[in-house]
Formats: sequence, structure tokens, C-alpha cells
Amino acid sequence: MEVELLAWFAQHARDLPWRRTRDPYAILVSEVMLQQTQVERVVPRYLRWLERWPTTEALALAAPAEVIVEWQGLGYNRRALTLHRAVRQVTELGWPTDLTTLPGVGPYTAAALRNFAFGDDVLPRDVNVGRVERRTGHSFDGAAAQALMDLGATICLARIPRCSVCPLAEACPSRGTRDEPARRQSRFEGSFRQRRAAALRLVVTSPRAAEELDPDAVGSLERDGLVVVDHGVVRLPSEP
Ligand code: ADE
Repeated sequence: MEVELLAWFAQHARDLPWRRTRDPYAILVSEVMLQQTQVERVVPRYLRWLERWPTTEALALAAPAEVIVEWQGLGYNRRALTLHRAVRQVTELGWPTDLTTLPGVGPYTAAALRNFAFGDDVLPRDVNVGRVERRTGHSFDGAAAQALMDLGATICLARIPRCSVCPLAEACPSRGTRDEPARRQSRFEGSFRQRRAAALRLVVTSPRAAEELDPDAVGSLERDGLVVVDHGVVRLPSEP
């Protein structure tokens, strides 16, 4: 299957900016952004981020508040702070052997860094890659990673797979079958996340009186270190 997959990829690879680098810092930025945000939305923000903070040293010198502001619009704002903490750790101690010891770096992101930045033969299994492996019944190695991501994002779609144009269809036991719809995020999770994001957006504009803001949202943002509450005023964190 690898041969068919890689031949297809040679023709159809998406031109994504993080595919033109092996800089582990740039790869980390891209993978943290891509954890919960769509590729098209990440591309311009990734480029802007690296223009502003081209190296770990540059980002380490930034204040947490600047990082939170730059992250606005990407969603799941906690990722901004964990990325910042991870990068500060790297500037002090270097890249660790076990990358999952970095804040915000789980097995998937560690495998992506190992493969795309350090050249190790490991396969980062995100949802898309896992779906292709499950449907084909085939285990791919690290060299197939980028190709599997594109196949999973453009052809081997969960709900309506495009088997008629899939390079693996001939050998695929799941050809023509769809996945059951995934569980939707609960209404509560959705609305609370929105309330948190809305409160943070207000504080990003300028410090606010706590009484003007949703108290549950502020409490949750405070616990995550995204805001501080000081004499009834909510603002972005200063150092560290
Ligand atoms: N999603 C997560 N990581 C990705 C990558 N490196 N390329 C495309 N999509 C991705």
C-alpha cells in the first residue's frame, strides 16, 4: 500500500508551510496550533507567529499576555500558555529525549516532532491517520505520515469517503463504508467554552471589573492562568 500511497502523494500533496522546515520549534508551533484548529485557519497564523517569534529564544522572552493576545481566534487558549511554557523549558534545558515531558506535548505531538523535525521513523497517529489504518487494516511506517494526513483529510473522510478516487481502494477491505457520526460536543461544553472565550476576548481588549464578567468563566480562566484577578479587576497575567 505504501507504493500507491506515496505515488498519490507525489501528485496531490498539499503545500503546507510547516512541510518546508525541520526546525523543531516551527514544527512544535504548527502541531500545537493544528491540535484543535483546521489547517486553513492555521496557515496564516503560523506564518505570522514565526515572523513575530522566529526562534525559541524570541518566544521565551515574550510575556504571557502577548502570547495570549497573539493566539486570539485560534481557540482553546490554554494551548498558548502551554506552548510558551514548553518553549521556555527548551531554552533552558534543550530538547528533552522524552518529548512528552514538555507541557502540552502528548504522544501524538511528540511523535510528530520526532518524525518531522528529528527524522525518526515513528508514525504520528492523529484521528485521520488512525482512520486510514483502521479502514485499510494496514500499519504504515513513519515515511507515510504526511501522505496519510492528506489522504485522511481529503479522500478517506469519516462520513463520506471518496473511495472512487482513493489510491488504496483496490486493496481496502472497508471500501464504500462510512463511519457512524461521532458524538457531538455537548451543548454545555460548547456554551461554556464560548462564555470563557468571550470573557477572555473582553479582557484582551483591556482590564475589566470582575463584576462586568461571567464569574464562572473568569474562575475557570483564572485557574488556567489565562487571567489574574486583582482587587476586583481582571487582566492578562504579567510575568512569569
Ligand atoms: N494535522 C496535524 N498535523 C498536521 C500536519 N503536519 N500536516 C497536516 N495536517 C496536520
